[in-house]
Amino acid sequence: MACKKNLAALAMACGLAASAGAAEPLKVGMVLPMTGPFAAYGKQIEHGVRLYLKQHGDMLGGRKVELVVKDDAPGTAGDVSKRLAQELVVQDKVDILAGFGLTPSAFAVAPLASEAKKPMVVMNAATSAVTTKSPYLVRTSMTLPQITAPIAGWAAKNGIKTVFTLVADYGPGHDAEGQFKKTFTAAGGQIVGEVRSPMKSPDLAPFLQKIKDTKPDAVFLFLPPGEQTIAFMKGFAERGLAQAGIRIIATGDFTDEDIIDAMGDAALGVINSFHYAEAHKSAENKSYVEAYYQAYPKDRPNFMSVGGYDGMRLIDEVLKKTGGSAEAEKFVEAAKGLKWTSPRGPVSIDPATRDIVQTIYIRKVEKVGGKLQNVEFDQVPEFKDPGKQ
Ligand code: PHB
Repeated sequence: MACKKNLAALAMACGLAASAGAAEPLKVGMVLPMTGPFAAYGKQIEHGVRLYLKQHGDMLGGRKVELVVKDDAPGTAGDVSKRLAQELVVQDKVDILAGFGLTPSAFAVAPLASEAKKPMVVMNAATSAVTTKSPYLVRTSMTLPQITAPIAGWAAKNGIKTVFTLVADYGPGHDAEGQFKKTFTAAGGQIVGEVRSPMKSPDLAPFLQKIKDTKPDAVFLFLPPGEQTIAFMKGFAERGLAQAGIRIIATGDFTDEDIIDAMGDAALGVINSFHYAEAHKSAENKSYVEAYYQAYPKDRPNFMSVGGYDGMRLIDEVLKKTGGSAEAEKFVEAAKGLKWTSPRGPVSIDPATRDIVQTIYIRKVEKVGGKLQNVEFDQVPEFKDPGKQ
């Protein structure tokens, strides 16, 4: 039989199974803040993504990968993120949309993923409702209620009776505030004050004064890690709140490894709950941390890098199941129920919500070998997003 020259025609004429586009490179379009106040988010997510690719010969599910990265700085302007995602779909013809450092970026792009029928892999943005905004969206990071409930439960059980909450005034902050109140008051705790700080250049001084005057046992906080969190920690020490006996409890991004060295010893003793720590003890994390330092000696591996790394793992596993196809419906069906061991511990994708199910650890900031680390001392295994229950 004379087979035609064209590859697809050849496969058909010769009766071969042409596995949906498997021979073509897989284009992954990333929307990330690479400059501006949240540039560290883009840097860390990209580090994780590139590390996974490097370890897998730039292949995912048998297809060569091409990454296209677009900077949506500051990451909080949805219209910018949306325009860039549109360019990725229309001009760059990407197969998958990925990245998303902050919630406004993920919220703005989700309807586009639905319209263009593209899988959307969210590697950080953590407001609970993000996954409800498109049926093609899968998340490999965490949700705010998921990382908040464990510290609220821990506080109530460990002698903290009154708490003042301070959160950033946008989706994740509202989620954190709501979940903290719910879990803490249900366990008998009392909220004695609450503040939402503006996203743009907040002045934390009046909040710190109000907290000092209210004298709670502890302040609970969620602020997106960066200048604000470093400023809060400094102000907390300088204004004598620590000396007044007020404790800090937080979601673990407050003392994330990318910024903890800038906070310095003031961070010692902060108790928080989170899904990833550089100091997490497992064989998978040991390899991850070693490979990370080899590739990026100037930075420290943090949760955003792991969100990116696991995002690539997810795409890899999905494409293995679909025979290389990134078609949105197939992609999402294959992602549902996936399980693997991440550097953070065992994880799976909840088939009902497309969010990640994972262990949340209770940690304390300590010096380990001269370095500030989040040291895990308790855990809540297989914890689903309580924001959707
Ligand atoms: C978000 O904007 O969704 C966000 C940003 C930083 C975090 C957590 C959530 O640490």
